[in-house]
Amino acid sequence: MGHHDPGLGLPFDAREFRNALGSFTTGVTIITTRDADGTPAGITANSFNSVSLDPPMVLWSLARRARSLPAFAGARHWAVHILSAQQEALSNRFAKSGHDKFAGLELDEGHGGVPLLRGCTTRLQCRSAFRYEGGDHLIFVGEVLAFDRSELPPLVFQAGRYAFAARRAGSVRPASETATADVPAASWREDHLGYLLGRAWFQFYARIRRQLADARLGDADYFALTTLALQDGATLAGLNEVFAYSGVAATEQRMQALAARGLLDAQGDADAPRYHLTAHGRALTQQLIAATAAIEAEALQACGAPEAEALRHSLRHLIRNTDPGLPDPWQPLEPAPP
Ligand SMILES: Cc1cc2nc3c(=O)[nH]c(=O)nc-3n(C[C@H](O)[C@H](O)[C@H](O)COP(=O)(O)O)c2cc1C
Repeated sequence: MGHHDPGLGLPFDAREFRNALGSFTTGVTIITTRDADGTPAGITANSFNSVSLDPPMVLWSLARRARSLPAFAGARHWAVHILSAQQEALSNRFAKSGHDKFAGLELDEGHGGVPLLRGCTTRLQCRSAFRYEGGDHLIFVGEVLAFDRSELPPLVFQAGRYAFAARRAGSVRPASETATADVPAASWREDHLGYLLGRAWFQFYARIRRQLADARLGDADYFALTTLALQDGATLAGLNEVFAYSGVAATEQRMQALAARGLLDAQGDADAPRYHLTAHGRALTQQLIAATAAIEAEALQACGAPEAEALRHSLRHLIRNTDPGLPDPWQPLEPAPP
């Protein structure tokens, strides 16, 4: 725990106290109003909370040293915008003093002429009802006059950083309930990350494999065609290097079979030809990619937009932090030697 800091009159370390409060996870809001001259004002605030349902009331607190203090102190109305996951940049914009925070923004007009931002999860228009002393902050309580909301997932703030709100999966047993006590030490456990990743991959790809079977293509063919769509003119060795992560490798025979079907052309050095998609090959590959995009959209719909975003983020994080140095398929191919 922190030490005594006599300078600030705190019985503990100020930073530790801030960190301790930051362990309470919140959404992020922007509160807007218009000052006496009609100039719009706004700040990012996570001190927002609900107070009462009937009458409908909410609160938030404003630092006394905020430049927007006079605007809010004199305002009869203000609006709370609960930010969506896509509005991190807007949150940062309104958390910075001393610039025109509203420049270039499309606004609606609310009760009392209050500027309303767009693209939020929820907007609450309030009449400023009460104000309380709150140490170095002022507490504002407002009566909600109107609100509107969308299905956009909210932005989350946790321990001083932006985060995702991913609901816990209801149908999957929580780790605490999985029968681990009677599972032998050397066997798979239900929450083993490798099992979860492998099973998720298998379930996802099972849908794509059906499409591949219809087109009489195997996994290696699929990887070769889709990689050639990104890296036209790759050699077999180049292709296999790019999708080494999949554990699947294309062979010269497979490539010849694809060429015989008119999907590829082999050009140049007979020992290490460079492969190009034919118009037919490109059309089929585009169909496959469109089908996988549709499968992805369905999977994401089934698991929920915030969960999908959180999953993508976690997977990228895992990939980045455990990468043994695999090549990046999105890196453009080095030009062929003359
Ligand atoms: C996630 C987040 C939450 C914040 N919450 C509050 C808050 O509840 N109250 C507050 O006064 N400032 C809060 N701030 C800081 C203000 O947004 C920041 O001081 C702002 O620049 C004040 O603007 P102004 O000086 O132009 O009035 C928060 C900042 C961030 C990034």
